Amino acid sequence: MIEKEEIKIQKEYIKKVKKLNEGKNLKYYILTMGCSLNENDSEKICGMLEEMNYIKTEEPTNANIIIFNTCCIRENAEDKLFGKLGEMKKIKIDNNSIIAIGGCMTQEKHIIEKLNKSYPYVDIIFGTHTLHKLPENISKLLENNTKIEDVLDIDGKIYEDIPIKRNDAVKASVTIMNGCNNFCSYCIVPYVRGRERSRKPEDILKEIKKLAEDGYKEIMLLGQNVNSYNGGIEYNFSNLLIDINKINGIERIRFISPHPKDFTDDVIDAIAKCEKVCKVIHLPLQSGSTNVLKAMNRKYTKEQYLSLVKKMKDKIPNIAFTTDIIVGFPGETEKDFKDTLDVVKKVNFDQVFMFIYSRRVGTVADKMENQIPEEIKHERFNKLKELVEKQIEENNNKYIGTVQKILIDGTSKTNKNTLSGRTDSNKIVVIEADNKYINQIVNVKITENCIWYLKGKII
Ligand code: 5AD
Ligand code: SF4
Repeated sequence: MIEKEEIKIQKEYIKKVKKLNEGKNLKYYILTMGCSLNENDSEKICGMLEEMNYIKTEEPTNANIIIFNTCCIRENAEDKLFGKLGEMKKIKIDNNSIIAIGGCMTQEKHIIEKLNKSYPYVDIIFGTHTLHKLPENISKLLENNTKIEDVLDIDGKIYEDIPIKRNDAVKASVTIMNGCNNFCSYCIVPYVRGRERSRKPEDILKEIKKLAEDGYKEIMLLGQNVNSYNGGIEYNFSNLLIDINKINGIERIRFISPHPKDFTDDVIDAIAKCEKVCKVIHLPLQSGSTNVLKAMNRKYTKEQYLSLVKKMKDKIPNIAFTTDIIVGFPGETEKDFKDTLDVVKKVNFDQVFMFIYSRRVGTVADKMENQIPEEIKHERFNKLKELVEKQIEENNNKYIGTVQKILIDGTSKTNKNTLSGRTDSNKIVVIEADNKYINQIVNVKITENCIWYLKGKII
């Protein structure tokens, strides 16, 4: 198989660069923007770099190689990259470091043009389809000292066995499929990640079994559209959930993101019967208005979304939902926006990731003439935020006094003297307790509601 051969070749380049780097104490700095899929790609970048004898540093100023793994889903992600790149120029001059940029943004032609014109000090530009070739590209750069541009515009392939250095010791992300065939009219993803392609079930299960042996307890399955996973004849997403559920040592299974239109009954039944599958489902709504959903090319109506939620609530006791919502899509009227608020009220989401519509070059919605003025977008965003915060506060109050199983992740980000973990429903819980509980699942009584997180005591 060509893909297998490709990885073999890259492993040879890893050996070559490793030898060159021996005894030099070289460091790498990586900045990851965007979603969990990008985070998972970055874990692979780190895996390759560490096998080539680079050591991770949190400080770009002392890095010999600086990597940006970029995102282009909204405009602010782009602004962030160009801001950061400006800061890197001085570091490059001082340290003669290598600067490499990859990820979703570099799949866009206008970005490559901008990089070449305004940021000529970037050494390697790679894309989402050439991530696995980083060893080859570093090796060639070290050899020839000429700028490398390695971006492919293809449907995409699957590469197994890329080295990986995971960020966490108990929770692991596993990409099960990549790419998207849906072409929602606002979304740039199908243009930069290629068409849907699924990993083989045996490769996924092998990876998860190894993770369980290494002590991982929680698995997050990743894909742009996980429930259209296609593992072969008669093997779909529900089969995969059932098989992962059987793996000893794994205690929690989560997945992002499914598409409401692909939520078949067998997947709902699998969630219901697999005790390890967390009963909080991320179900991107995007808009509550049937008109807007049609213009977004989402392929479901307000009513179909609500009846899917009802079906799942009926079949799965205590199920909770989280969602993504875009406000200010072209042509969105006050009535359309009210429909979104109505769905938010009816479903009573546990969490809502809210986005202001951002025009993306090359998408269908970017060419729509009825774009919404910025101030109206912001007004609607704030109204939605107000409703969501009220709902979350009320939902969180229901946790007070209950005992929850918490998987402790580590010390809390805001207060190093406390620990932080997650409920099965993915709520953050902060606990005053000894570090020995890190990486364990413990029983915690919830004592306080702090809106974005809960507080509790180990019992
Ligand atoms: N503008 C705003 N939000 C977007 N998303 C995707 N594309 C855009 C865009 N152009 C949001 C969707 C998606 C989430 C990952 O990002 O809500 O589910
Ligand atoms: Fe984008 Fe729609 Fe595909 Fe999600 S399903 S990645 S929103 S095109």
